[in-house]
Amino acid sequence: MNVFIVGGSGKVARSLARMLSECGHVVRSLHRKPEQAQDLAALGAMAVQGDLTALSVDALATSMVGSDAVVFSAGAGGAGMEVTNAIDGRGLELSVAAAQQAGIRRFLLVSAFPDALRGGERNPEFENYARVKKLADAHLVASDLDWVILRPGTLTDEPGTGRVHAAAAIPYGTVPRDDVAATLAAIIERPDVSRTIIELTSGDMSIDAALARISRR
Ligand SMILES: NC(=O)c1ccc[n+]([C@@H]2O[C@H](COP(=O)([O-])OP(=O)(O)OC[C@H]3O[C@@H](n4cnc5c(N)ncnc54)[C@H](OP(=O)(O)O)[C@@H]3O)[C@@H](O)[C@H]2O)c1
Repeated sequence: MNVFIVGGSGKVARSLARMLSECGHVVRSLHRKPEQAQDLAALGAMAVQGDLTALSVDALATSMVGSDAVVFSAGAGGAGMEVTNAIDGRGLELSVAAAQQAGIRRFLLVSAFPDALRGGERNPEFENYARVKKLADAHLVASDLDWVILRPGTLTDEPGTGRVHAAAAIPYGTVPRDDVAATLAAIIERPDVSRTIIELTSGDMSIDAALARISRR
């Protein structure tokens, strides 16, 4: 399968690119800095340079043409409200429009866990992040695409375990980025997991078993 990753130099995205290319998929990764290209090539991905704040729908659609699926894993990474609005918000809308124009139906979005930081100190930047992520989810859900929204709990850099808790609504927790990537890779191979929102934390079920329970078949 041909997979186009937006936010391709991110931590989840790099792990996903490596897993997909090891399984024989063709990966194209959108990244913004020239120096990231070599790193992506070493993971088996083709680097496509472009800045989400500068690309037109036409230009991004042209880069995406021929892909079977788009994965959006870009994020502002705490760079402030304006950047969050531009990347997690408008960047997602741009990517949805580009996928539609390029004729790609399958679209996976890495979103955020709705309960993250609940009960903690109220931080305006985090409130904005949660709002923008939710609106991005709503934008994708309203589209005609074959979407899947993955809402991981707080991400860690611990090694993946391959054991998760994944369902439409689960208690808040953490999850290694590698397990998020492995779940995305598994969803790409499961067209029966479609038009669904999946919350994800570490757990005790294999990713395959968890997705089989979510499947619409
Ligand atoms: N942190 C958490 O606990 C948490 C929890 C749930 C969900 N999430 C979400 O999970 C997703 C992936 O997380 P992660 O840790 O892999 O994030 P990450 O490492 O920060 O990756 C985000 C990527 O987005 C790219 N990006 C930012 N601005 C861009 C632009 N203008 N044009 C093109 N690309 C741009 C970044 O590029 P550069 O590499 O050039 O900076 C980076 O590679 C994010 O959407 C995040 O919001 C995070």
